[in-house]
Amino acid sequence: PKDHLPYRTAFHFQPAKNWMNDPNGPMVYKHVYHLFYQYNPYGADWGNIVWAHATSTDLVNWIHLKHAIYPSAPFDINGTWSGSASFLKGKKPAILYTGIDPQRRQVQNLAFPKTLSDPYLIEWTKPPQNPLMEPINGINSSSFRDPTTSWQGPDGRWRVIIGNKRGHRGMAVLYRSKDFVHWTKAKHPLHSAKDTGMWECPDFYPVSVEGENGVDTSVISKSVKHVLKNSLDDTRHDYYTIGTYYTNKDRYIPDAGSIDGDAGLRYDYGKFYASKTFFDDVKNRRILWGWINESLSREDYIKQGWSGLQAIPRKIWLDKSRKQLVQWPVVEIEKLRVNGVHLPRTELKEGSVHEISGVTASQADVEVTFELSKMGKIEEIDSNGLKNPQYLCSQKGAAVEGSVGPFGLLVLASKSLEERTAVFFRVFKSQNKYVVLMCSDQSRSSLREEPDKTTYGTFLNVDPLREKLSLRSLIDHSIVESFGGNGKACITSRVYPKLAIDGGAHLYVFNNGTSSVMISSLSAWSMKGAQIKYL
Ligand code: FRU
Repeated sequence: PKDHLPYRTAFHFQPAKNWMNDPNGPMVYKHVYHLFYQYNPYGADWGNIVWAHATSTDLVNWIHLKHAIYPSAPFDINGTWSGSASFLKGKKPAILYTGIDPQRRQVQNLAFPKTLSDPYLIEWTKPPQNPLMEPINGINSSSFRDPTTSWQGPDGRWRVIIGNKRGHRGMAVLYRSKDFVHWTKAKHPLHSAKDTGMWECPDFYPVSVEGENGVDTSVISKSVKHVLKNSLDDTRHDYYTIGTYYTNKDRYIPDAGSIDGDAGLRYDYGKFYASKTFFDDVKNRRILWGWINESLSREDYIKQGWSGLQAIPRKIWLDKSRKQLVQWPVVEIEKLRVNGVHLPRTELKEGSVHEISGVTASQADVEVTFELSKMGKIEEIDSNGLKNPQYLCSQKGAAVEGSVGPFGLLVLASKSLEERTAVFFRVFKSQNKYVVLMCSDQSRSSLREEPDKTTYGTFLNVDPLREKLSLRSLIDHSIVESFGGNGKACITSRVYPKLAIDGGAHLYVFNNGTSSVMISSLSAWSMKGAQIKYL
């Protein structure tokens, strides 16, 4: 229906119609980027899952190809669920994925490209040895899925982990193989944690301790740390820890202070799930893909005929502190920027709202940097307030005046601000230290009643006196992806405005605090649409 068209995006990855969930098997092969994804060919809700397939040479413009992997044999007849790609000897791609068998058991299968000379890898075959891993010896057959990209240990054998739970203990079950076809379950999981529930779509990879470059998944050296990410089915967020991979025991141990489960770090404090990274050897970086679902009811997304987006792929690396990761939209997306608007250094006085005109505000990229050299009186926050930043953001939304903040951007805003999504900072003091809160407030994002308007928030590890506070938002009709502190904190939200669509959308910078803040720079661009082709 026409009234839902304004929510289709222009530069985010989405199929022409129907349901999409997890990104699968991302890789770059012969300079072509591949993205597979969980897709329902028959409708806009989850079901009938196949691996749809698209390729790109720049991660911006895409060609949709025919489905790569779909139910075809007993070992996957009830669904081809999530999985990952690895490169075998001679750069031969191999995909491990979860199949749903006739008994509805989750089993792990292998698929190979039919024609290695085809950079588009259009045709896939499944070797007769499938299924390679079955839920036997006490493994629960409905919680045994989502194989990771495999890595080779110092002994040359392959390793892979599969998401699992035992009782309510989340687990990464480890398998080893000499030939990638015959797999043996290790006695111990790579890692597990009590009270975390099912670990969906685990991801395990090394990150360099210095610089922003990525490293290949099998790299083991003194100059890397390891990351384990799990998608927790209980809370529907992607959490990670940073730690050490002990190859002698084949165990991963998170660093002290890096916490498993929902008290730990998230890739994104808004919507972002079932994500997966891959090593891009063309540009020596690790790239993160993540699925963003709708904030509409099932009834409403079925009515609109499509559901789900992929976030703009993000480069991901280890922060200097070595305590968290940093993410930034791949640089290629910047080639869609046109008609830049640049604001000179401007003081943003208390209570001010300043329109950034000259950009198509429904389809834009905005970067703003604030300086807080002279802060007035700062609000105190107690240890309780420090526990739940999302709750704090919902209590102290953009409309609630503070002393230093809220200040930031009003995106997808209507002319008279009946509608706006507010992405902002607010500074507190706790035990003589500054605490920066970053929020994405969707409470007034739409005059429509039905969409979920939950506000999201997190603390940002930046010292506001010594460092500038930066914010970047990528705005694309119904999605806002925001990056605080040069990518130290990310918040993605889905919004469905009624007035702030297409030409009715506006962009503002605001300060609803009693202290003035300095904008040291602000640049905004209209974004061209990506080119999408269907083969
Ligand atoms: C995560 C997930 C995976 C599963 C797939 C099915 O969103 O539930 O665990 O493999 O989606 O589509």
